[in-house]
Amino acid sequence: MDVEKHWWKEFFSGKALDLWRAVTTAEQTRAEADFLVSALRITPGSSVLNVPCGGGRLELALRGFRATGVEYSEEFIQKAREKSRERSLAVNWRQLDMRELSGLEPFDGAFCFGNSFGYLDDEENFDFLRAVAKVLKPGARFALDTTCLELVLRVFEQRSWFEAGGLLMLERNEYDLLQSRMNTEYTFVGGGETERKRGSQRYYAYAELCGLLKGAGFTNLHGFGSLNRDPVTFESSRVILVGEKV
Ligand SMILES: C[S@@+](CC[C@H](N)C(=O)[O-])C[C@H]1O[C@@H](n2cnc3c(N)ncnc32)[C@H](O)[C@@H]1O
Repeated sequence: MDVEKHWWKEFFSGKALDLWRAVTTAEQTRAEADFLVSALRITPGSSVLNVPCGGGRLELALRGFRATGVEYSEEFIQKAREKSRERSLAVNWRQLDMRELSGLEPFDGAFCFGNSFGYLDDEENFDFLRAVAKVLKPGARFALDTTCLELVLRVFEQRSWFEAGGLLMLERNEYDLLQSRMNTEYTFVGGGETERKRGSQRYYAYAELCGLLKGAGFTNLHGFGSLNRDPVTFESSRVILVGEKV
């Protein structure tokens, strides 16, 4: 299946965002914030980078952290701005590519949550991790919420579907063995309309992911298979790697 290299520039608009908003419940966002506060060892007043931040889940700003959100999608970042304005929260929203972080303040912590890693090619994915390391204070922590090749291939299905918020999302998946990428055609159905889009994600084996983070300048890595800090096993549905800036 052919997928545009920078498919993510167009993908995050319309029904794809409606579906994302439907799956990221307030309860889920609060549980992720609880995890982040403890795993990143941050306290209210600390500066925290959320990259990419999507529509700006505001939980950390509401808890008194100095939040910065970096996001490429115009539609998402506008929503994020509106939401924080409505609640009179001062958040530093930046519409940028996730690799272009230079010039942002040195942060006390950073995170990349919500299946946002691996859209780029190998060099670019590594550039992103290096960019995050560069804007962290020494000893500050980074949490990468992703998955790994071992877990993805265990549950691989050529065709699957998912329903949320009155929307149906159909997936046709092709795994490219040479590139270690899952190429997917998504069909979103809802409100009497259909949208079809393609995306592609690079999946790294667990050891490769750890190697990328170390190479980018992180040490003291810990891997978790859930927000409850369970270890990563073949039954895990996510991998959260936490590392410290050297
Ligand atoms: C699945 S959403 C998750 C959003 C957010 N992390 C969350 O948990 O709600 C993935 C996000 O990554 C953003 N994104 C993808 N590639 C990007 C890039 N190169 N630079 C900045 N944002 C990017 C998309 O626009 C989208 O908002």
